[in-house]
Amino acid sequence: MATEHVDAGAADTRGVQHPDASSVSAKGYEDPAVLESVRDVLQASVTDIARRLPEVAVRSWVLGPGNVLQLAARAGEDRWLRKRANVPFVGYPLTVGSRVLGVIAAFSPTELSDEATALLSGVADRVVVALELHGIGRQINLQDRAIAASSNGIIISDPHQPDDPIIYASPGFERMTGYPSAEIIGRNCRFLQGDDRDQEGVSELRAAVAESRGCRVVLRNYRKDGSLFYNELTLSPVTDREGDLINFIGIQSDVTARELIQQERDELLQRVENALAVRDQFISIASHELRTPLTAIKAHAQFVERKLRRDGNLDAAARLQLIDRQATQMGALISDLLDVSQIESGHLTYAMHELDLGPLLDQVVEETRAAQPNFVVEWEREHGPFPVRADEVRIRQVATNLVSNAIKYSSSESRLRITLRRVGDQAELSVRDWGIGIPADQQSRIFNRYFRAGNATESGLSGPGLGLHISHTIIDAHGGRLWFESEVGAGSTFYFTLPIASS
Ligand SMILES: Cc1cc2nc3c(=O)[nH]c(=O)nc-3n(C[C@H](O)[C@H](O)[C@H](O)COP(=O)(O)O)c2cc1C
Repeated sequence: MATEHVDAGAADTRGVQHPDASSVSAKGYEDPAVLESVRDVLQASVTDIARRLPEVAVRSWVLGPGNVLQLAARAGEDRWLRKRANVPFVGYPLTVGSRVLGVIAAFSPTELSDEATALLSGVADRVVVALELHGIGRQINLQDRAIAASSNGIIISDPHQPDDPIIYASPGFERMTGYPSAEIIGRNCRFLQGDDRDQEGVSELRAAVAESRGCRVVLRNYRKDGSLFYNELTLSPVTDREGDLINFIGIQSDVTARELIQQERDELLQRVENALAVRDQFISIASHELRTPLTAIKAHAQFVERKLRRDGNLDAAARLQLIDRQATQMGALISDLLDVSQIESGHLTYAMHELDLGPLLDQVVEETRAAQPNFVVEWEREHGPFPVRADEVRIRQVATNLVSNAIKYSSSESRLRITLRRVGDQAELSVRDWGIGIPADQQSRIFNRYFRAGNATESGLSGPGLGLHISHTIIDAHGGRLWFESEVGAGSTFYFTLPIASS
């Protein structure tokens, strides 16, 4: 290497920018442990040169973060250096594997002799061998290969330079974005956002960079060919031993496939939610509209029935009674549909107040006996009030539902038993029938919406399968429990509990 002249004043001992950054394909070496080993080897070498060439000042720099050369070792008298403008020097790059680690240089007050340059060159070679012996070359090569093989992109930026430019981009980043590293070194990474700057992730990044902290965001970024990809960026600050920020490292993963699936799922969910809202609205409107004519049909049927009965036309009166009963059933079905749609949309509301379950159930039993004179309705009720906080209409609805199911699914025996008792701090109602029972393999689905047990359908007993679903929801909302015991051919007992209200 020929002797060069430099302005020794520029050779700032606190570190200098590499004289020709573009000719150095190296990346600054950041691992402090490796840097420490490198410094030890270099110090021994420069001391050796200074001992053999007493007139020269010897220095060695290593490439630190951001391709900035940092002074790593020095030896020899160098006070004269500051006073001189043009100083003859000779320098050798320290290359380990494919990577330039630093430089070793000797400055001389006089022109350097050939022997001196030969000595320096030999020492530089020995330094490289020594570094390799320390395993640094192997370590660097391994790390380089690991980084090169990674499908993630790795970016290092230098926040001490204006606009936090990229100082290193890994091969993975080049593959992910299509930008060769030479095209992007020196630029801020925001160029990947194109015009798509109004992103939540970008604001979060801006804040993280300003506060020198890490963050993880997903960004819409654009490859060199303009195509969109979703970039999951993990940003981490790198600090020195004093905790001061040196660099930012960004690890990028292309999560486009994951994001697109998520978006598709969200869109689908939105479509389903819209369809359900339309359905609920339809049921709600249809129910209200159907109820109005039904009320008129019932009122007129009852009026005409009474008249026919008075006139002695019993056959026609019986037919009108049938119309009235069918209209009542239709009304119940409409109510159930409305209830279910309100449950689905979360709009089923409860008017809660304190009430006594005893008299409420007395009424239900009385009405059942009046409506079903052929049925034996056993009513066993413990003494004492059963105060609960409940929506009276809804609890009556549940009790009536359980009783009418018991009647509906009774087989030959026209009997049912209703009991009300206290169990701890709960009021417990049970309704027992001796009917067809529920097959064991279907019991777990009995409270599902629209579910009907196989033997109920086979027996020709119609129904939409909504009553138990609604009852279960109502009791749940009251903080109670609804359950049953059943055996095919032996009958079922349905129970519900409600917490006794503390007065
Ligand atoms: C190490 C590092 C890597 C970054 N990588 C990306 C990236 O891959 N994609 C991106 O859109 N922004 C990336 N950024 C963020 C931008 O450089 C910039 O900080 C962000 O757009 C917010 O700042 P601005 O409002 O000045 O643009 C990275 C930032 C740092 C420090």
